[in-house]
Amino acid sequence: MSLGFCRNNYVKIANMKIIIGNWKTYLDSPKEAKSLFEKYKILSKKKNVALMLAPSHIHLLPLRSSYKGKSLSFVAQSLGFSGAHTGCTSARQIKETKVDMALVGHSEERARGLDDEGVAKKVQEAHKSKILPIIIVGEHKRDSEAEHYKFVRKQIQSALKYYPANKPLKFIIAYEPVWAVGAAKPPSARDIEMMMIYIRKTLVKLFGDRKGRSVPLIYGGSVNSLSAASILSLQEVSGVLLGRASVDAKELEAIISKIK
Ligand code: PGA
Repeated sequence: MSLGFCRNNYVKIANMKIIIGNWKTYLDSPKEAKSLFEKYKILSKKKNVALMLAPSHIHLLPLRSSYKGKSLSFVAQSLGFSGAHTGCTSARQIKETKVDMALVGHSEERARGLDDEGVAKKVQEAHKSKILPIIIVGEHKRDSEAEHYKFVRKQIQSALKYYPANKPLKFIIAYEPVWAVGAAKPPSARDIEMMMIYIRKTLVKLFGDRKGRSVPLIYGGSVNSLSAASILSLQEVSGVLLGRASVDAKELEAIISKIK
């Protein structure tokens, strides 16, 4: 089942836990990608799980075109613009491969030079191309002054500044504190919950109660089979974005097994 842009799918997903596997560039060969993909196909059949796969673009196309099922969804790791943009994959090209979701603003992309304005333009381009953006926000560090809340709020406001306020909100917000990506462990469940409540309030302020509450919020950054259950049980958390655990079949299976 693809969450995509279809309204019914979007409503349906609200009752499921979203698990996104961000394969980054962990897998070199198409053979490795194909073999892990087979595992994803099996795991995607589990009830109450919306399993989504974000391979690098070179693996995305063959995997997407070989897939005839409905339970697994595909996500591009990034999207770009059409025209003279060497080395990019445009939102429209992604859409043409029947992929209708994309990560926007991952910290690893921001570290390569993508700024807040670039994120906002990509969100706009995604919307125009009918691709659902998974907008990634998160602070670089935490301090005692709770500046990280303000930082995340500004990232959200900026990412959505071109988003048409009169339209239904078709995006997901992924909170990924940069310091927790690729780290030993995630923040405590309580810290994650506090930030998620804050993000929810930010969305409600921006778009009103009904619309602000319709946006799925997910967490990413060092999620593994030990931390997944407590994170997934948080009220405001609709799912998790996995990096390393997404290319470890055993870990992935263990995480999915926590979903009832
Ligand atoms: P990690 O990566 O799970 O390996 O920390 C998460 C991500 O970058 O999305």
